[in-house]
Amino acid sequence: MSDSSTASITVHVWRGNSEGGSFDEFQVPQQPSQTILDIVTWIQRNLDAGLSYRFACRVGMCGSCAMMVNGIPRWTCRTHVNKVMRDKQLTIEPLRNLPVIKDLACDMSEFFAKWNQAQGQFQGSTTRDEKIAPISPCSPEREAANAAIECINCAICYASCDVVAWNRDYLGPAALNRAWSLQNDVRDTAGESRLAAVAGDAGCHRCHSQQGCASYCPNELNPTASIAGLKRLTASDFLRRRYRSRHA
Ligand code: SF4
Ligand code: SF4
Ligand code: FES
Repeated sequence: MSDSSTASITVHVWRGNSEGGSFDEFQVPQQPSQTILDIVTWIQRNLDAGLSYRFACRVGMCGSCAMMVNGIPRWTCRTHVNKVMRDKQLTIEPLRNLPVIKDLACDMSEFFAKWNQAQGQFQGSTTRDEKIAPISPCSPEREAANAAIECINCAICYASCDVVAWNRDYLGPAALNRAWSLQNDVRDTAGESRLAAVAGDAGCHRCHSQQGCASYCPNELNPTASIAGLKRLTASDFLRRRYRSRHA
């Protein structure tokens, strides 16, 4: 039986920024129940204080700790080393499809800018002084909104999306998933302009529906299904407008 207190893992960590960089190699002691975030933190505290990375909650809530681990985008605070390690080796890189500020820390600006472009903010019509609208949790609309709502903004889906890699204007799975959730919220009033925002050249019709985003989402959301819903909505909206213009 191997002694887990003395076994070590060879870890290759990306150092650099969007301009360029290379991998540094570290030896890290293996521990029971160790996560990838534990590995990165151990390196920073014991071997290289200059290593940059991002995390906050350590319990899968904040979405800030995502990185590429052996080529797969993962939430590192909830990813156990022994489930993803290959031949006692790990390769840890910043998330794909985002500019790198330094080492493992990406610049999330374009990711959140696309939430804004897809009108990912709730637009209500009432004030806090009015009665709260009764919404049945079992209504089909609320069930559709809830199915897409638990996004933690980790950008794992964004890193997994080949269309984002090919077309940096593409809004991407997270922003479109958010738009779909809001389109199904009966209290929201921005449906028409949001549909126009997601129907354009960089919108939902660019998605090739191969489910990369759904395969890797740590919260088991299905942005592909949300985007399919937006495709249906935008297509029927287009046909409705055309019918109206011809019969005006
Ligand atoms: S299904 Fe669409 S959004 Fe998801 S990864 Fe593929 S192209 Fe990107
Ligand atoms: S949809 Fe899933 S993978 Fe994408 S940002 Fe939200 S939680 Fe992360
Ligand atoms: S540190 Fe918050 S989700 Fe990992």
